[in-house]
Amino acid sequence: MGKILVTAASGTVSSVLVNILKETNQDFRIALRNLDKAKELGWDGLDTVVLDFEKPETHTDALENIEKIFTILPNYTYDFIQNFKSFLDKAKSNGTKHIVFMTAMGVEHNEDAPLRQMEKHIEESGFNYTFLRPNWFMQNFVKFHGAAIKNLGGIYLPAGNSKTSFIDTRDISECAYEALLDERHINKAYTLTGPEALSHFEVAKKISDALGKDVQYHALTDEEARDLFTKIGYTNEMTETMIELYNFVKQGYTEIITNDVKSILGREPINFDKFVIDYLEFWK
Ligand SMILES: NC(=O)c1ccc[n+]([C@@H]2O[C@H](COP(=O)([O-])OP(=O)(O)OC[C@H]3O[C@@H](n4cnc5c(N)ncnc54)[C@H](OP(=O)(O)O)[C@@H]3O)[C@@H](O)[C@H]2O)c1
Repeated sequence: MGKILVTAASGTVSSVLVNILKETNQDFRIALRNLDKAKELGWDGLDTVVLDFEKPETHTDALENIEKIFTILPNYTYDFIQNFKSFLDKAKSNGTKHIVFMTAMGVEHNEDAPLRQMEKHIEESGFNYTFLRPNWFMQNFVKFHGAAIKNLGGIYLPAGNSKTSFIDTRDISECAYEALLDERHINKAYTLTGPEALSHFEVAKKISDALGKDVQYHALTDEEARDLFTKIGYTNEMTETMIELYNFVKQGYTEIITNDVKSILGREPINFDKFVIDYLEFWK
């Protein structure tokens, strides 16, 4: 079997995937924009390569002798997407057979969305594909909302009182591993969710109870969210995208629970209570 390339390897999902590939002694290459991160992440001595989607001159070396790729689309700007497409086209002409691509829950309902456009490009290029479409990540409550939870005892979002079947990203990494190694997942698309749908009020209560400290969810209006996102440095485009995504949440589109994680991993997805226990130190 040929080699696996993990792109954006320092990312939340990719980095755990790398560790699973390492533990199971698979033949793989780690692609990073900055190789210093390999040392920080404990990947000294492994096959690493510089890959920046926006620098086509880095694509060739990264793709040498690669049969399968795990990738994400980290940025949705027009120029970025053109470079990402060039990367995929180069992979095709270099002989890569299978792309495992993480997009997002619901992309199949919006043919114009950049993530869906890239799914279609992969299909039309004739790759074997596996699309992993996860719901909102549990780990967002550490990575994006962790500081506010820790310092202000608050979660500030325009998510209303709707429920979301949050997924633990460690399950996505495991699904990506299975998709890369098991041919049953070729030419399949999966919607990955957690085992239960929770409102942000319920999320705040679970974190609060486990921490033994008051944590409240503040349901923002779109206008309040616009002010907050701008204040913390989001571009106008990012702000509007987030408001739009949270409008889908408010309309109930993210409360669906699927069986796809269980069908891939043969076990129930990680629930929110376990996520909170495992990450408790981050909020202390
Ligand atoms: N957060 C959610 O709730 C959620 C839900 C569903 C889907 N998603 C999707 O998940 C994806 C993000 O995945 P993630 O959270 O695992 O990643 P992440 O932690 O946000 O990390 C992004 C990764 O992309 C890399 N990257 C950025 N620009 C790059 C470039 N020009 N060339 C190569 N690599 C580049 C970063 O590298 P550096 O370390 O060098 O910056 C980093 O490794 C997005 O497509 C998002 O839409 C997110």
